[in-house]
Amino acid sequence: MVKHHLTRSNLVLACLTIVGVALTIDFLCASSSMVSTQKHHLLVPIQENYTIKVEKAYETNSGVPERELSATFADLPAPELEWEQMPSAPVPRLDGSAIHIKDLLYVFAGFGTLDYVHSHVDVYNFTDNTWGERLDMPKEMANSHLGMASDGRFIYIVSGQHGPQCRTPPIPVTFVLDTETRKWGNLPPLPAPRYAPATQIWRGRLHVMGGSKENRHTPGTDHWSIAIKNGKALEKEWLTEVPIPRGGPHRACVADSDRLFVIGGQEGDFMPKPGSPIYKCSRRNEVVYADVYMLDAKMKWKKLSPMPKPNSHIESSWVIINNSIIIVGGTTEKHPVNKRMVLVGEVFRFRLDALEWSVIGKLPYRVKTTLVSFWEGRLYFTSGQRDRGPDNPQPKKVLGEMWRAKLNL
Ligand SMILES: *[C@@H]1O[C@H](CO)[C@@H](O)[C@H](O)[C@H]1NC(C)=O
Ligand SMILES: *[C@@H]1O[C@H](CO)[C@@H](O)[C@H](O)[C@H]1NC(C)=O
Ligand SMILES: *[C@@H]1O[C@H](CO)[C@@H](O)[C@H](O)[C@H]1NC(C)=O
Repeated sequence: MVKHHLTRSNLVLACLTIVGVALTIDFLCASSSMVSTQKHHLLVPIQENYTIKVEKAYETNSGVPERELSATFADLPAPELEWEQMPSAPVPRLDGSAIHIKDLLYVFAGFGTLDYVHSHVDVYNFTDNTWGERLDMPKEMANSHLGMASDGRFIYIVSGQHGPQCRTPPIPVTFVLDTETRKWGNLPPLPAPRYAPATQIWRGRLHVMGGSKENRHTPGTDHWSIAIKNGKALEKEWLTEVPIPRGGPHRACVADSDRLFVIGGQEGDFMPKPGSPIYKCSRRNEVVYADVYMLDAKMKWKKLSPMPKPNSHIESSWVIINNSIIIVGGTTEKHPVNKRMVLVGEVFRFRLDALEWSVIGKLPYRVKTTLVSFWEGRLYFTSGQRDRGPDNPQPKKVLGEMWRAKLNL
């Protein structure tokens, strides 16, 4: 290996000293600088086509990595933010959902542990910074992987996983919570149940698309919508809309006037172990994406610039501030060598005018399935599953912690 290094640096030296002598030398220089560029990508992984480039770098060395890829290789350089810890939620949750209305954050469902799921809503009041009210959810409502959207009064809750572990199949039922009266109602069930479908209210209709199908793993690309007003469906059935180019769960779905954005997510997910009476979760192949898709009034999907890295489990991890979408944490592609899961510790910004991404801050730790909001100049996040420590980005503890930081965009 040492010899290999020497040979290469000799080549680089040759390239620097003998400039443009012969075609063969040019070729050697070109291929040598190509190799060093790809090695450079290993060390500084800021690039558009991140996963593929990392894999390529490995292939160039005849499949034998020259040096171990650090576990934290996926971290991006990010400015520090001054985080302040706020009161923790009454319970820890993974894969919960949240909606912010007026001075209240409604935090729904989620896993406490893999064997225990929540069936209630905790409410945080931003005015006095306390967790107070607790609402019971209807027993028939799913406990995780919900599709969720709000018009500022009514919260629509679509499909999802009912029960702990990797329970299959998902359930198609759709609920609505009136936050003024605290009363629950129903909408027609989805045509087929989904896990964590992208869900948003857009142009007077509740749109639901993607997610995972009945076996929890197969990505769905179906897209449905139903006209809604004041917590009621105006139609008896869901309308079939233009399918989304890539299916799968755990994406951010954001409406901005006449545009609808679907960001990140994954294909594949954990599945129940065959024959397990408790639907015990077992890991299956999953691929995380940086993709951004946009639908406009012409109802044609457009692919936009990808996120700075692949990112999933971000369905409640975003907020719109000053004409930008801000996304907090998530989970990226597995480590290419040790195949462990890798959490995300950055805050991302997507400008809705320029349609461009940047990294605007570092989190107190890497964390996925954050529940995010913005109040009086501060970005808030709560809940989720954090990393094992600064040097180990694998998921570990499920949290109820709440943090906030001043933002200046
Ligand atoms: C990533 O690389 C693959 C294979 O080289 C290519 O097909 C794909 O278009 C690239 N994606 C982006 C977003 O650049
Ligand atoms: C939030 O707390 C403040 C201060 O205690 C209170 O005045 C306000 O009514 C609360 N908000 C709601 C919606 O209950
Ligand atoms: C949003 O824009 C307003 C007006 O330019 C500015 O005062 C405010 O600080 C901005 N908010 C953030 C979070 O950057």
